[in-house]
Amino acid sequence: MLVAGLALVLAACASEPLPQSALDPAGPVARQQDRLWDMVVPIAAAVFVLVEGGILLLLWRYRGRGDDRPPKQVAGNTRLEIVWPVIPALLLTGVAVPTVATIFALSGRPAGDPLEVKVVGKQYWWEFEYLGPEGRGVVTANELHIPTERPVFIRLDGTGTDADVIHSFWVPRLAGKQDYIPGHVRTMHLEADEPGVYPGQCAEFCGLSHANMRLLVVAHEPAEFRRWLSDQARPARSNQTGLAAQGREVVTTAGCLGCHTIAGHPDNADVRVGPDLTHFASRQRFAGAIFDNDDPAQLAAWLRDPQAVKPGAQMPNLQLSAHQIEALVAYLQSLE
Ligand code: CUA
Repeated sequence: MLVAGLALVLAACASEPLPQSALDPAGPVARQQDRLWDMVVPIAAAVFVLVEGGILLLLWRYRGRGDDRPPKQVAGNTRLEIVWPVIPALLLTGVAVPTVATIFALSGRPAGDPLEVKVVGKQYWWEFEYLGPEGRGVVTANELHIPTERPVFIRLDGTGTDADVIHSFWVPRLAGKQDYIPGHVRTMHLEADEPGVYPGQCAEFCGLSHANMRLLVVAHEPAEFRRWLSDQARPARSNQTGLAAQGREVVTTAGCLGCHTIAGHPDNADVRVGPDLTHFASRQRFAGAIFDNDDPAQLAAWLRDPQAVKPGAQMPNLQLSAHQIEALVAYLQSLE
């Protein structure tokens, strides 16, 4: 127990940067929220030490000594009864003022020229739709791509018919969490200083695969981001020969397009029940960002029996043959 506790404490001192530490902010929004933590922790620590220290001191000072007589009975001390609640009231007010100011500063649309993204929580993955003329209707799953040094305005939109249960969107190094609530639109800001990959995850228990509902935020230099967006706006350039071409046929015969969009596929029907697969091979992860897109074994395991590798997943087991799976893997990995 002690060893485990000590290990935890020491882990917190690791010099290795932690990918999901809210205490290691990587953007102005997370920094602003981290400043509140930096302010509250010393106050809370001082109160803890004073109160707990006082309890220990009094326990020791007035411990039983064998010859105990009943203590002197006292009741009512007006001065103490006024001072006692006033101290915490002042402390809490001191904490509340900057907290409420930060809440207001980070609500509504960010100033400047934010990138606007609609986020929808599904069981168990995230869908990102880039809004406005700039977004050109681009939709991705599991991976949110953003430009650096530019505010991102996230609309957690639960008003669609595809909203299921409450989730919570959290990318610890970029911003605090915000709930995704069916029937409501919640908003939040997010911004990254440097290009990089920032992992996040669902932070509200939402069902069997809550722990498998992760995401990646990929931050690019602005020019690189524009290039990424225009690539995504194009239909997929898929391999038209060999096994991949057979996979393209399987997509039709197995009924994949009843749930998935693959822009550029001859039978594409633009259905958005499952993730948009148009540029599947350009992404790093799939199925709630828990599996690697470029690993044929993980893809094959998923296609063979989705529930076996991600409990509660909505993707049905299509009873695909080994050859169909092999062809689908080749096709998906060709969707650049
Ligand atoms: Cu979605 Cu937990």
